[in-house]
Amino acid sequence: MFSSEGNVVWHKCSVQKIDRQELLQQKGCVIWITGLSGSGKSTLACAVARGLHMRGKLTYILDGDNVRHGLNKDLTFKEDDVVENTRRIGEVAKLFADAGVISIASLISPYRKDRDACRALLQEGDFIEVFMDIPLQVCEARDPKGLYKLARAGKIKGFTGVEDPYEPPLKSEIVLQQKEEICPSPSDMADIVISYLERKGYLQA
Ligand code: ADX
Repeated sequence: MFSSEGNVVWHKCSVQKIDRQELLQQKGCVIWITGLSGSGKSTLACAVARGLHMRGKLTYILDGDNVRHGLNKDLTFKEDDVVENTRRIGEVAKLFADAGVISIASLISPYRKDRDACRALLQEGDFIEVFMDIPLQVCEARDPKGLYKLARAGKIKGFTGVEDPYEPPLKSEIVLQQKEEICPSPSDMADIVISYLERKGYLQA
């Protein structure tokens, strides 16, 4: 890939992340929600954003589907493009975190190496991986967009979980699962994430 970094000098400003955090009374970080299509990533992202908004905290959601309508509309679902989709969202999420915002990335991001590369962009602790550990059969039974059906019929090639792999996280900060086949409500799951942020000091400057 072409890189211009060699001839570009970082420009520093006297207003820093710490100043923005002071203004916002919170700490910028990235909540990275990963899981299969239909696992509830976008619903959780929205519930977390709503819960934090009600507490006066500034969030911004970077949703895979939505970002693919704009910044990433040139990307397909072939492996290289999925890698690039994850990389770009990781870089944008990092900028939002630097702005002091609690940025919520919700995208399948099927490859462990790419998620770990996004983690490595941030300070220790500032990348909070949330794994929607919902079995494929459950996501497929939900099939909110009818895409699994199309994938099984061979009308969508390389659908994650059907033809292409999903590599589950090995040590994410938060794992959300069904209990006795019952999925916790979005607001209960959001509470788990928000309590984590609170415990780790992200809801204060
Ligand atoms: S990612 O794999 O590149 O991280 P992303 O989260 O941005 O995926 O987008 C996934 C959404 O695109 C899915 O929820 C689904 O609606 C749609 N989609 C279309 N084609 C595919 C495909 N081949 N694999 C996975 N998702 C697909």
